[in-house]
Amino acid sequence: MQWIPWEPHHFQGLPRWAIPKPGAVIVTSKSHESPVSLPGGCTEPVEPAVPAAESATIHWTEAGIEQQARWHSQSRQAAPVRIVVGDDRLSADRAYRLVQQGTGILWRGDFQNARQLLSALARRVGRQRQPPRSSAAATFRQHRESRTRQAQLLGLLLVPLASDYSVPLRRAPDVAVACTEAYGVAAGPSVIALRELTGVIGAHEWRHKGVQIPALGARIYPHYGVFSPIRGEYLALVSEAPLPQAVCASGAVAFDVGTGTGVLAAILGHRGVQRVIATDQDRRAVDCARENLSNLNLAGRVEVVETDLFPAGRAALVVCNPPWIPAMPASTLDHAVYDPESNMLRRFLAGLKDHLEPEGEGWLVLSDLAEHLELRSRGELLAMIDESGLVVVDRSGTAPTHRRAGDTGDLLHAARSAEITSLWRLKVR
Ligand SMILES: C[S@@+](CC[C@H](N)C(=O)[O-])C[C@H]1O[C@@H](n2cnc3c(N)ncnc32)[C@H](O)[C@@H]1O
Repeated sequence: MQWIPWEPHHFQGLPRWAIPKPGAVIVTSKSHESPVSLPGGCTEPVEPAVPAAESATIHWTEAGIEQQARWHSQSRQAAPVRIVVGDDRLSADRAYRLVQQGTGILWRGDFQNARQLLSALARRVGRQRQPPRSSAAATFRQHRESRTRQAQLLGLLLVPLASDYSVPLRRAPDVAVACTEAYGVAAGPSVIALRELTGVIGAHEWRHKGVQIPALGARIYPHYGVFSPIRGEYLALVSEAPLPQAVCASGAVAFDVGTGTGVLAAILGHRGVQRVIATDQDRRAVDCARENLSNLNLAGRVEVVETDLFPAGRAALVVCNPPWIPAMPASTLDHAVYDPESNMLRRFLAGLKDHLEPEGEGWLVLSDLAEHLELRSRGELLAMIDESGLVVVDRSGTAPTHRRAGDTGDLLHAARSAEITSLWRLKVR
């Protein structure tokens, strides 16, 4: 691979924006990965072409020297095929044109300027609102398409990460602890999307600041990639629903399926349930829940197990707050929210009767947002409950109070403003 000098005739066939000016050096990449999805053709959130972040290497030439780095993307964004080196002289408009063409910008300027550039790009990307479609389902598809496209475009502003997780850029913050928390020990130098890095920094702040949980009178500390109980209305449902008699008997056990931070297991422990087994299939959630339960002095009462759905045995109470939107996750970090074809929900309901004591109850915490988006009807949910040999004993509900529910500019406003999260109390028929 050769460095391409700044000679216009070398850029035949490239659009005018691609011809380098000061502040942006065209470099070539011989990435062996499939090309990044280019804007325009994406109709569903797609699994990116690169199977795992760690397997991709990007190559480029810079100042006449061949360079390569590991492409790191926890959200599994595909490695960009063409890369431009950019610095403080690169204008936001020009950067926007580059990313629209699928070109990665490897930043060599000031870190804080890169953050500003990312915000400027986000404003430009966010401007492209289209009128709502005819149906709620079509609007939801449009929303996801535009979110996927935004993530792809904004994910093209790249920063280098050294093997000790330092960022070799002027005025870069110390992100070593945040990266170690999110990624573990570094496997060598890498290049990462600045957007992902800001997510890692944000997660680090939440992990140390924590989220106050009124039902516990204490804080829960979410880890990177673990569902955070930041919109906590549903927690009150679990802390206020009447506990079944069976779970108050000595030796009784409760399960919390898909525990995330461990917050629902902690609420059950806090309410006096003597023994809780909490599960999650995500290793990060298991580690996070163990840490939170230990901080709350509940580790002796709550065991956290890494498994798919239920632990072995039966319980007097089984609580579950599954992912509530039946659609493909757009990234590996979305699995707590998106559940293709209601797979986890279906399997949870189908398996519940084999994991409940005779007088036991299953508590399903579920938002009806999917119903307002026409992705799953109430009838389908009730049929799933019925086909699983279960009956509804009671249902309590709460409306979300978060800011987005009141944002009339949000494409999904109609659905979000009507959303109710319910606690369904279920028993074996
Ligand atoms: C919406 S989050 C709820 C987390 C937590 N219970 C809460 O209420 O804050 C759903 C959780 O289910 C977990 N999950 C998804 N599929 C699962 C499965 N098949 N088995 C166990 N856990 C699963 C996810 O990793 C995630 O932590």
